[in-house]
Amino acid sequence: MNLAIVGTGAMAKFYASAFRALAPTLIGRQSGGPFILSDNGHTEVLNPPFLPWQAAAGISWDVVILAVKWPAMPLVQSLMTHISSGSLVISLMNGMGQEEALIPPLDPSQLAAGMTTDAVTGTWDESQGLPAFTVTARGETMVPWLPHPSMPLWQNTVADLGLSWKFLPQGSVLHHRWVKLVQNSLINPLSALANVPNGMLPDMPLWNLAPALLHEARTVARAAGIVLGPDLDAQVVRLARATARNISSMLQDVRKNRVTEIDAINGYLLRCAAGYGIEIPVHRALVQLIHALSSQAC
Ligand SMILES: NC(=O)c1ccc[n+]([C@@H]2O[C@H](COP(=O)([O-])OP(=O)(O)OC[C@H]3O[C@@H](n4cnc5c(N)ncnc54)[C@H](OP(=O)(O)O)[C@@H]3O)[C@@H](O)[C@H]2O)c1
Repeated sequence: MNLAIVGTGAMAKFYASAFRALAPTLIGRQSGGPFILSDNGHTEVLNPPFLPWQAAAGISWDVVILAVKWPAMPLVQSLMTHISSGSLVISLMNGMGQEEALIPPLDPSQLAAGMTTDAVTGTWDESQGLPAFTVTARGETMVPWLPHPSMPLWQNTVADLGLSWKFLPQGSVLHHRWVKLVQNSLINPLSALANVPNGMLPDMPLWNLAPALLHEARTVARAAGIVLGPDLDAQVVRLARATARNISSMLQDVRKNRVTEIDAINGYLLRCAAGYGIEIPVHRALVQLIHALSSQAC
């Protein structure tokens, strides 16, 4: 199977390890070369094949996994114009709305927008002089079951590799993606603004915004046909506590002067809300604050 992993960051490196039996190719701006991956006490050095964006466009891929961040989407879009209908494309990015922009050129039956709660963090290993990635949580990966000819083969391949991905009806995955979107829409920007690890967030004054943010998100989700359970408020607090030592990806991006995913997370809620004629002023304020923080950092 010819597998492409689009991205060269933490998640792409994790998938390069998980799918190493398929000898996947990473696609991105630059290879980054060899790296260390630590997972559950096991550490190894990997150096998967790499192709820059333009070179990857000329190849026929059976399966493509998208593991990039929002600013890479114009490059992804351009790559997808070269993808044949025989390729299955699986997106495991956070946020929502990026995938819809890929249809066309992709057909809806070949684009599986899933989600994962696996977590991987990147650092630098001084002793070996290599980038190092650590799997900090093994969560769940859910992918919608699509009527694409490659889907049964991919499902069997994943099972043969011992990966516990779930292949679920599209509506069920969409619901899980909304739950994650809403959780991210609180934890990511609030932790970035408060500059604290997740676990401290529920004790910060900024957390007083949580009820209004959840109410607004719930209203938008309902308009989109997604009913979020009454326990979501408690779930978000539990998630922050359960990932207490994690530095959220948005806070990491702010600290490293990188563009954040705010436009794919809270920004997606804003775009949806506008489509339904709903005002969500607290989310709007957060988007503005994160943009201000990012431009300050740069
Ligand atoms: N890490 C996690 O624990 C985790 C868990 C669940 C979901 N996710 C989601 O998975 C996706 C990837 O996350 P990640 O942690 O792997 O991120 P990451 O380590 O920051 O890597 C981001 C990737 O996007 C590329 N990229 C960013 N801006 C770009 C631009 N302007 N042009 C071209 N390429 C660009 C980067 O390329 P360069 O290296 O060339 O900049 C890199 O390949 C995100 O949607 C994230 O939210 C992450």
